[in-house]
Amino acid sequence: MTNHFTDVPEEMLLGQYIPIHYHFNMLRDQSRMLPFREAIELSVPEDGKVLELGGGTGVLSWFAARKARQVWCVERNPALVRAARSFLSKNPGGDRVTIVQADAMTYLPPEPVDVVICEMLHVGMVREKQLEVLRSFCRRYQDRFGPRLPQFIPDTSTLAVQLIHQDFCFGGYTAEVPVFDPPGPHMQDCWLADPHTYSTIDYSREIPLEFLAKASLTIRRSGHLNAVSFLTNNFLAFVLSERRAVQWLMNQLILPLPRPMDVIVGDTVMLEFAYTSGCSIEALHESVQAEICSHSLPLTSNYPLRDAA
Ligand SMILES: C[S@@+](CC[C@H](N)C(=O)[O-])C[C@H]1O[C@@H](n2cnc3c(N)ncnc32)[C@H](O)[C@@H]1O
Repeated sequence: MTNHFTDVPEEMLLGQYIPIHYHFNMLRDQSRMLPFREAIELSVPEDGKVLELGGGTGVLSWFAARKARQVWCVERNPALVRAARSFLSKNPGGDRVTIVQADAMTYLPPEPVDVVICEMLHVGMVREKQLEVLRSFCRRYQDRFGPRLPQFIPDTSTLAVQLIHQDFCFGGYTAEVPVFDPPGPHMQDCWLADPHTYSTIDYSREIPLEFLAKASLTIRRSGHLNAVSFLTNNFLAFVLSERRAVQWLMNQLILPLPRPMDVIVGDTVMLEFAYTSGCSIEALHESVQAEICSHSLPLTSNYPLRDAA
């Protein structure tokens, strides 16, 4: 299959095809690895059966194999299949993982499984095929094995968006480019409105493939609105006894707005966008529009501070 931007086969596009050196970044990203390891430990039953879709280096399957009797790890990229087999042979218990070179869009395990792990995640569900893969998987699995679905890791993902001010000046050079930024206290000074959740994806229910947002957002802090930040939080597992969730809040994707504007507390901004999961960042970016739809009464100071409460 080819995509409409280039003649490159879709499976070769960055986002579908992830080179091995990028897996190094994923392996050492503690904000990703630690919650996955914890969620897998909590969710996989002793002697259970696990399927991983998009296994990469095999690390998450190996976490699962520390408790499971059998893990099927499906990976499409032959270079990663070779790498995963080699890594697993050097890790104790790696022999309980069967690496299967296959397309996760069509593969089903030979028997029902207790847990399915799928980390083809990208902020906003763009670029990677998490939703398409899991939607197809649920339908095919239920056709073959009946209505009861396995537990999914992640269990739920929430997608939100926030109006912000972003500094696009790099060493004195202004360039309004999409930015990936880890969440953290440095964002405290940037936000101008509260985050708006536009989708909650429960992987055991109907999985959406299209996202459409038309939200009127109230400005809570005055400033220069020039960007929107897309935020994705993955609830990998829920620990009901402790009333908490094991979460992975991904790096945010910050997209510059085509028409920046000054806003003051109480203004309402209409934010609109529409995209298909797995689409390019450019396709999402092109669809984003923001306009002031109602002004608050002007106040004496230029940029009144948000009510401290
Ligand atoms: C974000 S990486 C995660 C890898 C691994 N699960 C981890 O956590 O380190 C996603 C992986 O899914 C694989 N992948 C993407 N689409 C696939 C498909 N249709 N079938 C099988 N594997 C796929 C990619 O090659 C890549 O290795």
